[in-house]
Amino acid sequence: MRCSARTLSRQTGLQTSPAFGNVTRGSWRLPGSHARRLERSDVIAFRPRRATSSLDPVPLPTRLTDRFGLEHPVVLAPMAFAAGGRLAAAVSDAGGLGFVGGGYGNKDWIDAQLEIADPSTVGVGFITWSVARTPELLDDILGHQPRAIFLSFGDPRELAPRIKKAGTPLFCQVQSREDAEVAIEAGADVIVAQGSEAGGHGDTRGTFTLVPEIADLLAASSPETLLCAAGGIADGRGLAAALVLGADGVLVGSRLWATPEATVSNAMHAAALASTGDATIRTSVADIVRELDWPERFTARVLRNRFTDTWHGDEAQLRNADPAVGRDWLEGWADGDPERSNTFTGEAVGLIHTIEPTGAVLEQMSSQATRLLRRSG
Ligand SMILES: Cc1cc2nc3c(=O)[nH]c(=O)nc-3n(C[C@H](O)[C@H](O)[C@H](O)COP(=O)(O)O)c2cc1C
Repeated sequence: MRCSARTLSRQTGLQTSPAFGNVTRGSWRLPGSHARRLERSDVIAFRPRRATSSLDPVPLPTRLTDRFGLEHPVVLAPMAFAAGGRLAAAVSDAGGLGFVGGGYGNKDWIDAQLEIADPSTVGVGFITWSVARTPELLDDILGHQPRAIFLSFGDPRELAPRIKKAGTPLFCQVQSREDAEVAIEAGADVIVAQGSEAGGHGDTRGTFTLVPEIADLLAASSPETLLCAAGGIADGRGLAAALVLGADGVLVGSRLWATPEATVSNAMHAAALASTGDATIRTSVADIVRELDWPERFTARVLRNRFTDTWHGDEAQLRNADPAVGRDWLEGWADGDPERSNTFTGEAVGLIHTIEPTGAVLEQMSSQATRLLRRSG
């Protein structure tokens, strides 16, 4: 595919698109055959949390909350395009750990997000294979002294020494046990075991077996390394299950993507609310159309639509398709249009029924998990 608009897929264009508003008020007509009216009651009223004091007990204390001084063992996934400074700050303000989605590495955009969110309270995430091409960007960002750096999708061993030298905690997201061994060698402080249910890019292992397998590996060979579970965790049931499987906390993408603080268009939020967990697919077509050089093992989980129905399984044809195909997708993406481009979200979409503020999501997740864990003794 020849498409001159490659750069359109970079963060800047998207973040400034007026289409990326938020579904927060009133009621909206949802598109598609499963459309239902989004009522005012879908948007749960949220009162800001009272300020915590040293006397407030942490509801779910874990090694992760201890080490990072958190109130909830919940980490925001560094979602490219969707997790800007506003969302990252909201998660950290609510007692979790926010990450700005540095994605493919646009320095100006990341700098702007770190103006919005105080870098001493939020981390920055990168797509490893992409930032490895411009390691000086990593040095620039380390100069902001972020709370942590998050690397995913590729071997972190070459970049890790820069991060360790800066004294910055390193999170490595992995998709297999073998990846976890590499992350231990890199000196990861936190390993995030990402199952295939996850939204966005990932691989084939499922969360339910990957997390305890890596928990066993860490217990045996690197007990100081913390573990987070990722992929399909959208409520207190997922959080409680992850802790029972041996994780110290969870990394949440899709559920926090569905908040007013995320940089996501109303139309994509509406498409997600109208979908069930059956509606996603792991595919490469959204990368091929953007001419992104993703390693073959990683596909992206997105909502199925006409574009994936047309091209998934026909990737060679897509690579040689008329440039108009790529232009249409990229214009749709810039407009936040779930029909012409793709909505990146995970199987957890079937558990998401509201667009509501980040603080409320964290409170509900944590309190439901606490209740469930108490009940099970
Ligand atoms: C919209 C979206 C964008 C994502 N972008 C990135 C990214 O840029 N870097 C990354 O490491 N992971 C990315 N992910 C994957 C997350 O790190 C995480 O593994 C995933 O969201 C967890 O599963 P969940 O979506 O079921 O919560 C993205 C996920 C979503 C939903």
